[in-house]
Amino acid sequence: MSEKFVIGQIGCGLFAMAHHGPNVMQNPYISRIKWACDISEKKAKEYARKFKAEKITDSFTDVTTDPEVDIILIATSHEARVPIVESAAKHGKHIFCEKPMAMTEWECYQIIRAVRKNKIKFCVDYMRSTAPAVVALKREWLEHKKNPEHQSWRYVETKREKFLEEKVTDFFVRVQDESASYGLRHLDPFTGRGLIVGEAGHWLDLACWLFDNDRPVEIRAWGSTRMRYGIHLSFQSGNAFTITMTPNGTFDYPKEVYEIAHDGALFRMEFFVENQYYGRPGKEKEIFPLTHDSQPGVGRQGGLSGYLEKQAANHKKSTTLKEEWLSIQTNHGLEKMFNAFIDSVRNNTPTLCDEIDGYHATYLANLAMKSIEVNHPLPVSVDKWDYYVHV
Ligand SMILES: NC(=O)c1ccc[n+]([C@@H]2O[C@H](COP(=O)([O-])OP(=O)(O)OC[C@H]3O[C@@H](n4cnc5c(N)ncnc54)[C@H](O)[C@@H]3O)[C@@H](O)[C@H]2O)c1
Repeated sequence: MSEKFVIGQIGCGLFAMAHHGPNVMQNPYISRIKWACDISEKKAKEYARKFKAEKITDSFTDVTTDPEVDIILIATSHEARVPIVESAAKHGKHIFCEKPMAMTEWECYQIIRAVRKNKIKFCVDYMRSTAPAVVALKREWLEHKKNPEHQSWRYVETKREKFLEEKVTDFFVRVQDESASYGLRHLDPFTGRGLIVGEAGHWLDLACWLFDNDRPVEIRAWGSTRMRYGIHLSFQSGNAFTITMTPNGTFDYPKEVYEIAHDGALFRMEFFVENQYYGRPGKEKEIFPLTHDSQPGVGRQGGLSGYLEKQAANHKKSTTLKEEWLSIQTNHGLEKMFNAFIDSVRNNTPTLCDEIDGYHATYLANLAMKSIEVNHPLPVSVDKWDYYVHV
């Protein structure tokens, strides 16, 4: 393989334009984008023009069978993944695949099989675990677990042994969004399968990353399988992850808040721009820079208050939702995930979110949907977690 890679982009919609293209442009190990492929000629042309792709096509096999192409980036709608991955893997291309990896277990099986049989590198873009604010949140929680330090005024239980539920960690995610974020294709049972598969996979994957080798054992979910839900995932150790999502919120306020509660401390992340640490003495809040800032003149203090000021100024200027999204961007880890994938290909090392991680998120998301449908908690089965694919 040449020292610098040749890219084929399949799916040239909003996300490819906003993130895949810019990610490719900044990576020093990529020489060129040979193909922009989309079933919409307009989208393929737009992408090709912006990122100087050499050719456009509406047929993904032009890209997957091209001997010059080393790496395929997939940013199609969800239902299109399997044939693209199968063809790309068969022709030895490495694959960076947008989330979700697939919508069903059967699709996951086909993808895992294709990836393993052809020994290619495969990465699903569940990138939040590489966001600097999230990395810092985990670091602070682990430090507190290893070396608990409490505020001097805190009442620390000394008269009895701790109960089991006092020894574990709770991880909470609150997501609020405007439903206009989600096109009907995301909610359609065939092209998107709703927001639990389409988006909650991000946080199910994040919970598994946070709790590392702790195996999930039970899931219970409530609400609607389409877009307004809650999920509680318990782990073998007693650790638990809880997420609530409402589509009835506003872009005026950030989308995500994460909280980790453990042994008299609370570690809080506000939308990738600010972390607050409570319960440990001498801990300051941390502020994280934006990756794109169309309002550098306001909110210079950064953090949550800076972000809110920038957003308010931005609302006065933006005319479309797309403009609104693209003009101020927090660091979700998108660039880091992509660069880590390119490094995995270069160095023949595991990717940060491989085909099994991608499957786990899809499996848990589908189990959550089932739990809503039957209005009951469901076990995470050992054999399905410890997935076995004979190739
Ligand atoms: N990692 C993240 O945080 C994140 C955020 C947003 C979206 N995404 C994912 O990115 C993907 C694309 O999302 P989007 O918002 O850009 O959607 P989009 O509808 O704007 O783009 C999808 C594009 O894929 C094209 N397409 C569909 N089937 C195709 C096929 N067989 N061959 C070639 N092109 C095909 C469509 O014409 C469309 O232009 C989705 O899977 C979504 O979940 C990831």
